Amino acid sequence: MRLKGKVAIITGGTSGIGKATALLFADEGANLVVTGRRVELGKAVEAECRQRGVRCVFVETDHSKMEDCRRVVETALKEFGQIDILFNNAGIVTKGTAETTSEETWQSTIDINITAVWRMSKLALPQMKKQGRGVIVNNGSDWSVVAGKDAFPYVMSKGAVGMMTKAMALDYARDGIRVNAVCPGDTFVDRWMEKGYFEGDEKVVLEQAIKEASEYLPMGRFGTPEEIAKAVLFLASDDSSFMTGHLLLVDGGNTAQ
Ligand SMILES: NC(=O)c1ccc[n+]([C@@H]2O[C@H](COP(=O)([O-])OP(=O)(O)OC[C@H]3O[C@@H](n4cnc5c(N)ncnc54)[C@H](OP(=O)(O)O)[C@@H]3O)[C@@H](O)[C@H]2O)c1
Repeated sequence: MRLKGKVAIITGGTSGIGKATALLFADEGANLVVTGRRVELGKAVEAECRQRGVRCVFVETDHSKMEDCRRVVETALKEFGQIDILFNNAGIVTKGTAETTSEETWQSTIDINITAVWRMSKLALPQMKKQGRGVIVNNGSDWSVVAGKDAFPYVMSKGAVGMMTKAMALDYARDGIRVNAVCPGDTFVDRWMEKGYFEGDEKVVLEQAIKEASEYLPMGRFGTPEEIAKAVLFLASDDSSFMTGHLLLVDGGNTAQ
């Protein structure tokens, strides 16, 4: 029960890493506000969290809209009166080179992967300052620290998440607020098989993906959302009380090569 009595906002908690984190945080005793656009999945996560004995509210949210982001923070304060943890997790994975990236893809990548992180932080920070404590965990990527091919807009956005993390950490260290990023390597999520690895890609064929991972990843396998959630828990809890401005790679050794 490392988060007992804490209130956490998890953006993009309808699937993947966000969902796994919501369930782990519920197991650890946190009350939760979970966001996303897919209402049915969000409601299911809300129910699963409640079954674990905590309070949980799903808020249908499009994080590209400031008014939606504001509603999330208002809901947290109305329901729970405090915000201890903000996990800026919602994100999209977009492909392209500098030449092939369209204006639309560039803008949507910035809107969700960068601006939503800033918006949610801007809205939650005043409450955290008032409390004299708070933790923000941003979801970066191993591509926050190294680049990958044909993923120009995504790599750009995750690089920005890394520097937003460090800049916010410095600005708020004396307010008792810690800001860190979890940087996952390839983590197998349902989306890959439903929509593809990148937005608009072909769906991933499980057997083929597992074979490829066994060749290019040092540990020979993808990560799981649950493994990433454990690192988020570490950064969100007092176990990491002397860490701020840190990018925590959880990538099975991918960036060591
Ligand atoms: N899986 C990996 O290999 C990997 C590696 C490094 C980093 N990451 C990062 O991990 C985070 C979570 O991704 P995932 O891999 O767990 O995939 P995912 O299952 O597709 O999760 C993405 C989440 O973001 C939400 N989201 C996307 N756009 C949104 C919007 N406009 N408004 C509100 N919510 C939005 C989605 O909810 P709705 O669709 O319901 O809106 C969903 O809950 C992302 O930031 C991603 O970049 C993933």
